[in-house]
Amino acid sequence: MCGIVGYTGKKEVKDILLNGLKKLEYRGYDSAGVAIEVNGMLVLRRCEGKIANLEKIIHNESIIGTTGIGHTRWATHGRPSEENAHPHTDCKGRIVVVHNGIIENYISLKKRLEKEGHRFRSETDTEVIAHLIEKCMSKAKTKDLLRAVHLAVGYLKGSFAIACISLDDPDTIVAARQFSPLIIGIGKEEHFVASDIPAILEHTRNIISMNDGQIAKLTPKKVDIYDLQMKKVSAQVMNIPWDPVTAEKSGYRHFMLKEIFEQPRTIEETFRGRISLDPAKIFLETMDISTEDIKNIQGIVFIGCGTAYHAGIIGKYIVENEAKIPADVDVASEFRYRDPLVNKNTLVVAISQSGETADTIQAVREARKKGAKAIAICNVIGSSITREVTGVIYTRTGPEIGVASTKAFTAQIVAVYMLALYLGTKKGVIKQQHLSDMINDLLCIPKQIETILKKESLIKVAAHKYFTKKDFLYLGRHYNYPIALEGALKLKEISYIHAEGYPAGEMKHGPIALIDQNMPVVVITTKSSVYEKILSNIEEIKARSGLVIAIANKGDKKLEKIGVDDIFYVPKTSEVLSTILNTVTLQLFAYHVAELLGCDIDQPRNLAKSVVVE
Ligand code: F6R
Repeated sequence: MCGIVGYTGKKEVKDILLNGLKKLEYRGYDSAGVAIEVNGMLVLRRCEGKIANLEKIIHNESIIGTTGIGHTRWATHGRPSEENAHPHTDCKGRIVVVHNGIIENYISLKKRLEKEGHRFRSETDTEVIAHLIEKCMSKAKTKDLLRAVHLAVGYLKGSFAIACISLDDPDTIVAARQFSPLIIGIGKEEHFVASDIPAILEHTRNIISMNDGQIAKLTPKKVDIYDLQMKKVSAQVMNIPWDPVTAEKSGYRHFMLKEIFEQPRTIEETFRGRISLDPAKIFLETMDISTEDIKNIQGIVFIGCGTAYHAGIIGKYIVENEAKIPADVDVASEFRYRDPLVNKNTLVVAISQSGETADTIQAVREARKKGAKAIAICNVIGSSITREVTGVIYTRTGPEIGVASTKAFTAQIVAVYMLALYLGTKKGVIKQQHLSDMINDLLCIPKQIETILKKESLIKVAAHKYFTKKDFLYLGRHYNYPIALEGALKLKEISYIHAEGYPAGEMKHGPIALIDQNMPVVVITTKSSVYEKILSNIEEIKARSGLVIAIANKGDKKLEKIGVDDIFYVPKTSEVLSTILNTVTLQLFAYHVAELLGCDIDQPRNLAKSVVVE
């Protein structure tokens, strides 16, 4: 989705903006633009398509300015075009605005402004903001951009993160946030504003995350933040431990592939310092829930969207199995609107890589309104969701740039695993030996992933056999049912091949009708309590001439005897942790199918990295 970057300081801003926008490309966009203040004039350059097009336009231009804003637009109101690309200006071209989010009342605002004589040049909702600021300046007889923006946002309904510049207030950027993420980067005699950390990570790791309803004024010398009553507020500066190099491709063809290969390390980062073997113990005190509170929990609800929801299903299963607490899982967009039965004895666990997914934020708010306790499993420090909850388990994977979630998902599995064991030990329902075995299994996972990554070439060979197929079915049972969903989601989002994930037991209740000699069925067959049942499902597929691609443990004689079309072998581990190893295999399979089809793997069509609108 849209991205914002802005800078005010002593350095030339053109490259800072272009490089920042490039770091936001992964969010998905269809046009881009910048506005730079140069000697009392605003230089505005925009274009449809990729940032490379914008770069071509301004490459040879000498645009020497030290204050500017840039934007990547993901079309909502109006098609992707130069006129609709941000920044947008007021009538006189003295005020420029970039905006993420949706202004819900823009039609009525536009009509009113047009009646008052304002001339519009685009089909966007954003342009009303520029004209509103112009109107507020003239109505309040002020040249003060901060004051005018404060007045203007009072008219807006919907979600917005905005950054603006005015020729009447040089060296100044005014930014405002309502339900759409915005951060401020603190440098030495320079300040940045951005919608996402990677845009400014090469310049500073000191970051303020703005809250909803806040307005900020940035100049090279200082940053002041105000609430909606224009009362100055203090803000916490956080140090982001991410290394800027983790936001680079480092020789991999795609971020997605790099992120798949990072998983041995990211999983270790996620459990490091949170588990010990001697004595076997889980340390999740950052969750900030007392043992007494844990004993009072009567139910846990996991919520998330897409891939994060799949991690929630694993969360539900493992919490019930290990902590013996009834658990549920819900898609955040369903939970928030279905009047869920939660109360002060419910623990809601929101799972989100970005921490900015609108539906998940609102679901957490809904749960808290009803008195539930809420914690988050999240990857982005200081993101919106982490500020809505009482405790956070951070998945420490570093920035995930590929739009398709990979390393964040496997880290989320590790997080729900540790959470279940932590709750179980605090409740006294887990035996010490069992805990020790489970921790031991987890410690082995990074090495076991490495053995799968070494066999990437075999997965690529198999991808060659199947990449022209039009439909895939993915089947798994129990802990590996959500992995079937995740495998299908990965394939469809990056290769655009139709794929469906199903609990294998459901196959005969409908999907079996689809099976014929053209239908590859990926079956997760690793050793588990439901292994024999899965073998029966494979027999059923074969009896209908379906193609079977199995994921199995080495030496699986029974499976080899049945005879399937392809087998990907993974190391043996517990049933719950097999989800991680099976996931890595399916990520590589989806990646190579998409690569053979020549798809835009890191930025699949129509998708956005953080879905900050409903
Ligand atoms: C799939 C994917 C999406 C996200 C979903 C939630 O590969 O990336 O399904 O998992 O949009 O995003 P977060 O985790 O940021 O809340």
